[in-house]
Amino acid sequence: MTGLQLIHMCLATVLCASLSGAAPVIDSVVVMVKNTVRAHHGQTVTLPCWLQPPQSAEALEVRWYRNDDFDTSILSYRAKTFETPQETSYVGRASFGLKDAASGGLKEGDVSLKLVNVTLQDDGAYTCYVSSDKGYDKGKVGLSVTATGTSPFMSVVWKQNDLVNLSCESDGWYPRPQLRWSEQKQNLSPKSLEYREDSSGLASVHSWLLVSRFSEVSCSVGLSDGEAKEARVRLEIPVQPAKQESHSLGSGAGWVAFALLLITTLVLLGVLYFKRKALFASSKKEESTEENCSLLPKNESEALAEANNHYENVTLDQVKSEYLTIKDGKLRDTIVQFPDGPKVTCLTAVRGRPGFSSGKHYWEVSLGNAKLGLKQSWWVGVTSATVLPWENGVSPSSSNGFWFLSSSPARAESLQFNTEPEVLLPVRSRPQTVGVYLNYDSRELSFYNVDDKKLIGSLKADFSGEVFPLFNPGRGDKAPMEILQRTAPDECDDTGNYAQSTPQEAES
Ligand SMILES: *[C@@H]1O[C@H](CO)[C@@H](O)[C@H](O)[C@H]1NC(C)=O
Ligand SMILES: *[C@@H]1O[C@H](CO)[C@@H](O)[C@H](O)[C@H]1NC(C)=O
Repeated sequence: MTGLQLIHMCLATVLCASLSGAAPVIDSVVVMVKNTVRAHHGQTVTLPCWLQPPQSAEALEVRWYRNDDFDTSILSYRAKTFETPQETSYVGRASFGLKDAASGGLKEGDVSLKLVNVTLQDDGAYTCYVSSDKGYDKGKVGLSVTATGTSPFMSVVWKQNDLVNLSCESDGWYPRPQLRWSEQKQNLSPKSLEYREDSSGLASVHSWLLVSRFSEVSCSVGLSDGEAKEARVRLEIPVQPAKQESHSLGSGAGWVAFALLLITTLVLLGVLYFKRKALFASSKKEESTEENCSLLPKNESEALAEANNHYENVTLDQVKSEYLTIKDGKLRDTIVQFPDGPKVTCLTAVRGRPGFSSGKHYWEVSLGNAKLGLKQSWWVGVTSATVLPWENGVSPSSSNGFWFLSSSPARAESLQFNTEPEVLLPVRSRPQTVGVYLNYDSRELSFYNVDDKKLIGSLKADFSGEVFPLFNPGRGDKAPMEILQRTAPDECDDTGNYAQSTPQEAES
């Protein structure tokens, strides 16, 4: 036997001994670790640390602590018992875990640390220390904690000189996320980019920029090595009409396009209008004599309170439709399970009363409840049509006397105005209650998310003659659409609050 063969034999004996479970003769402990581990805020994570070659750690001393601070234990195990951790924030959260599914645990030298409910403060370095009466060893594991925030929320405000102020915000991130603006894959540089940290350490980001004409701008927010969340805003501004003036069909179409450009523009103006009005109103507070009962709108929620002074109890026209049932102000689809999922077409549109040809009028529509969920497909708005086109395939638009806000399951992140071109309004979530504010005299129609007290969007419309509330519960949603009725107040009070009948839970 050569010397080399002898060494091989010796090694084999040690290995076999260790595999068969007999205690191998090892002079000291050698600790192995995984250098970095990533975890999401709130998750459970295991920081791997084990003895190499494997030996039982049951009778050893094992200690986990932050950084190099031996005296702030997170997990302390000695003489086969656990001691209370010195770091109180880890009490009840730290225990031994398994480095992988095949691990035999403490018996085979796996001394990994398992942490439940990972917090942002857990981010950092951890030391795994193992000691026997023959010696000790330690290793360091870095824990990098991340939190994924909300989908970005974008808003659009029209400024002078063809400029649009686009803003984008997102919160709930750790560490600070990166925010990127782009248009057709080209990066845009923001005018402002601000970060804020809340009390729990989560970061929010807010950015805005000014753009002139654009088709689609995207704002994406994400961690450098994680996936990003994105929101887009699209404006479909039509081409300028042909200069040539004639009575041909072609120029007619050009004129329509021009009118629609105006609508798109004014939708944005509408949003600004409220902000402007708010500024104006607060600075001229004393001089206002105009309407005693109306509140001075300072912001969106006060503009909504002002709208509330013009509450109308709208009733629904009775229609004979095989697709709808109408009862007590509730509109529902007769087929709850629609084969292709929720859908909204002209077939289920209904007019309300009274009609309006002057003044300010406000009404609210409930679009779901906790029990049946939120409706996915609906229209809410006004129409000047005397007869509704109950036909599939008709697309009612501002050019034929329909102005409404619509929701469809195909576009989860936005609501739409049925203008031509369509305007997509980014929303965080579908509203549960929509308030419709018609100012006939100034030819404005505004939609509010009543629960958030936020303006969804406004549009200018060239109403003529009488316009009627328009509703459409669509088909295939479980939740009904309900026109909310209020008990009439004697006079409007200072708060603009009214007694309101709460929407009844729909009988299933
Ligand atoms: C972890 O978080 C859950 C949910 O917040 C909580 O119910 C549980 O008690 C927490 N566990 C520990 C050990 O803190
Ligand atoms: C753009 O909008 C943001 C709010 O989202 C505002 O803080 C900023 O001042 C606006 N910029 C301009 C130039 O109006």
